[in-house]
Amino acid sequence: MKITFYGHASLGIQVNDVDILVDPFISGNPKASHINLDELKADYILVTHAHQDHILDVEAIAKRTGAMVISNFEIVSHFEKLGIEGHPMNHGGMWDFDFGTVKYVNAIHTSSFPDGSYGGQPGGFVIEGEHKNIYIAGDTALTFDMKLIPLQTKLDLAILPIGDNFTMGINDAILASDFVACDKVLGYHFDTFGYIEIDHQVAIQKFFEKEKDLMLLEIGDFIEL
Ligand code: NI
Ligand code: MN
Repeated sequence: MKITFYGHASLGIQVNDVDILVDPFISGNPKASHINLDELKADYILVTHAHQDHILDVEAIAKRTGAMVISNFEIVSHFEKLGIEGHPMNHGGMWDFDFGTVKYVNAIHTSSFPDGSYGGQPGGFVIEGEHKNIYIAGDTALTFDMKLIPLQTKLDLAILPIGDNFTMGINDAILASDFVACDKVLGYHFDTFGYIEIDHQVAIQKFFEKEKDLMLLEIGDFIEL
């Protein structure tokens, strides 16, 4: 499983020869100006919630690639009206796709579309593929619901928001890593705009002091599990 960071909360996942994009927000992120939107491959686009900084490029990418949108019922319905194929899910539900399984899990946040219309309830994803398990938290506060995940799944990586203000910050993300029983963390949702700027060295040191590994990727860089 290869995981590429495209800035903010945007990820690319390659698993079982399938390309997945998560929460593509690239054309609106000046820090990701070196990422060519027209070259990104996608068979599926996973969307955690309806906020602009998570859905901005979904329509353009889906129409170019024919990718299927996987998200909550309301977000999938929104994109189906635009002619985009979707697979609706809701919290606690799991589905077997050709690349592996996806479970839509709880997040504490909001989820309106940019025009204010209802975007369902926000979520995160637990994805299994190539015998690896990852958790993509989405925008969320620290929540006890995270403790449900390791009851069923031994995670290899937790992808957690760390930028604070709109989501968990660093200290809560350290607790989240305890809750999901995974000490290997990829941080995201930081630095994109002023409210969420963080000191990278302080963040990495705080995780290190708890014997955890926080990875902060440059935009365009990847890790392999
Ligand atoms: Ni959000
Ligand atoms: Mn966000």
